Amino acid sequence: MSHEIDSDASLKEAEDKAEHRLAALRGRNFQIDMTRGKPGREQLDLSNGILTVLTPEDCFGADGDDYRNYGFGTGIPEAKALLGSYMGVRPEQVIAGGNSSLSLMHDTLVGAVLWGVAGGAAPWGEGTKFLCPIPGYDRHFAICERLNIEMINVEMRDDGPDMDAVEAMVAEDPAIKGIWCVPKYSNPTGAIYSDAVVDRLATMESAAADFRVFWDDAYTMHHLTDARPKVKNILEACTAAGHPDRPYMFASTSKIVHPGAGIATLAGSEANIADLAHKMSFQTIGPDKLNQMRHVRFFGNVDGMASHMEKHAAIIGPKFAAVDAALSQNLGGKDMATWKRPLGGYFFSVDLLDGCAAKVVRLAGEAGVTLTPAGATFPYGRDPRDRNLRLAPTLPPIEELRQAMAVFCACVEVVSLRKLNSSA
Ligand SMILES: Cc1ncc(COP(=O)(O)O)c(C=O)c1O
Repeated sequence: MSHEIDSDASLKEAEDKAEHRLAALRGRNFQIDMTRGKPGREQLDLSNGILTVLTPEDCFGADGDDYRNYGFGTGIPEAKALLGSYMGVRPEQVIAGGNSSLSLMHDTLVGAVLWGVAGGAAPWGEGTKFLCPIPGYDRHFAICERLNIEMINVEMRDDGPDMDAVEAMVAEDPAIKGIWCVPKYSNPTGAIYSDAVVDRLATMESAAADFRVFWDDAYTMHHLTDARPKVKNILEACTAAGHPDRPYMFASTSKIVHPGAGIATLAGSEANIADLAHKMSFQTIGPDKLNQMRHVRFFGNVDGMASHMEKHAAIIGPKFAAVDAALSQNLGGKDMATWKRPLGGYFFSVDLLDGCAAKVVRLAGEAGVTLTPAGATFPYGRDPRDRNLRLAPTLPPIEELRQAMAVFCACVEVVSLRKLNSSA
């Protein structure tokens, strides 16, 4: 009994201390934005050369085609070769597009809903459902919500989604037409899909004959450590399994060069590429071929992209290490938060005690640190346990990041201890 009183007293004491620490931090009037995964200024500077690399002579293809003019609706051959190597597919399996992979994903899904997919019997239309590994990328979920596609949560593990659940649902329900996947350095958990998961996605039976895997390979070269994990090629795996049209692969150079001024790509089977190119032909006469050429000249080849990404890693690796150190020092062993330091990508995913995420975001905001809203990593913005938060460490300079993490950790302690004390 006296032991319980002691521990209640020390919990209260711990809360008072944490409140004091937070009050002191609040007094420092921080204004730090940790909401979105944007590169920091130093990273953007790495690609300044792309702004001046293009000369008038570079505006012509090997056959003399004038890239300053209309044409090449699915991109120029030089960009398809570069992006094909980046994605691990052949150039003829590539559309080299405009500046945003999110636009390609959006338009691919809109096209499927309105007109159906290659080899499909009918438009997906009303009643379409999608599997959404959670926590996941809020903008994927926003596209589904906008199109009235019902989203079904699937638990995300360290090696990809819970495949027992995926297989069971996909085999059972013909309204389930697709699944979102960020296969390497997943947003936000940093999960890396195992070969077994890729194989199961490729081979599983689907009640919908026109089921698709939306394979958003946004972070394939975005390493943070010396590890260079490889994810099995989904197009090859699906082709070998007799489902060549199952994957739509997406990527972009947004977080390689300048976000919004990169080039995006969509890759897949020849049937998918023909179908998507046809749909795109109503939408645009062609992408920005000069920007595509700029990338080709700036990088030379995929090795040039890889060595460029090493420079990014050198800048942001220490930021991720600083976040991990702050979490470990302040919250380690306190049973208030769990997280894993990612090997790549742009985010930390932190799970708090149930019911604490929204309160931490509010409290951090009052202390001048803006975090991604609680729930953002879940379909419909609803985290059933209100416990997951996504931290985006890349934008703030490292000193600011340390300050932001001090605030974050103090908020987690205060909110957790308030919860524990109120239920003690
Ligand atoms: C998983 C994922 N896909 C796509 C994007 C956006 O890509 P883009 O700039 O090519 O539209 C992001 C940006 O944060 C992302 O995290």
